Amino acid sequence: MTVSIRPLHPMFCGEVHGIDMTEPMTREDVAVIEAGMDEYAVLVFHGQNITDEPQQAFTRNFGDLERPGAVSNITKDHERRLDPLMADVSNLDSEHKPFRRNDRQRMFSLGNRLWHSDSSFRAIPAKYSLLSGRIVPSRGGNTEFADMRAAYDALDESTKAELEELVCEHSLLNSRGKLGFEGLSDAERANFKPVRQRLVRTHPVTGRKSLYLSAHIGTIVGWQTPEARIFLQDLTEDATRTEFVHRHQWRQYDLVMWDNRQVMHRARRFNDVDDVRDMRRTTVAGEQMTVEQAA
Ligand code: OGA
Ligand code: MN
Repeated sequence: MTVSIRPLHPMFCGEVHGIDMTEPMTREDVAVIEAGMDEYAVLVFHGQNITDEPQQAFTRNFGDLERPGAVSNITKDHERRLDPLMADVSNLDSEHKPFRRNDRQRMFSLGNRLWHSDSSFRAIPAKYSLLSGRIVPSRGGNTEFADMRAAYDALDESTKAELEELVCEHSLLNSRGKLGFEGLSDAERANFKPVRQRLVRTHPVTGRKSLYLSAHIGTIVGWQTPEARIFLQDLTEDATRTEFVHRHQWRQYDLVMWDNRQVMHRARRFNDVDDVRDMRRTTVAGEQMTVEQAA
């Protein structure tokens, strides 16, 4: 079957037809998807009724898998519901029951409702994320994407020049701190040490520039924090205005793949105390740092 991509939005996001993820991919299929990712930055595949193993195999077509684990979460190994290579983006505990309202892991995962780019808090941040909707809630729980290339392009020339060389500090402590999440242990804090990322990225294939914003940012290197935060808040507000945003409304067995170097995303609210949303993410590791790290 030949692969084709239909645009879903005037600027980005495409819907892919002609792929069955339970089958091995040909090199040609992989090349079409990669080119589609470069162009659309977000691709939607419907009707992919897969388990974790084929999801991982499909993901490996695009590079090495990033391991979730201690850097990115507070979940202890024995509390994990899924294989160590799967990021559990569900609202379920290890017994497959929705977390109770006050559960600490539930509080932590509310951070996904802030605009972010996956693993921007790692020295080498993620390339692609692939999110598989195994069980979707009856209402709500959409995922939204914002095109950071379009957001960059829309800036005036003097702002572009001002941003060009700026470097930000990213850490999970910042996104969780924004929500008032407290009570991290010293070991958890040590894991969440800030890393540096450029604020303007250039795509290695297309050469397009984009804004590398994320809720994980705490400050801009060399700036006072209040000025950095209000500046970034203004930029984020502009970068996520309606015209740059695509809303994905989940159907069961959708798989959505996005390029973290070119878009931000966020989860939207649903009744997660009663309803089930079983979403599982595999992540393609990035290939390089965006800037040298501080010693
Ligand atoms: C993720 C994520 C958003 C969602 O998987 O990285 O942020 O809607 N997911 O679950
Ligand atoms: Mn995410």
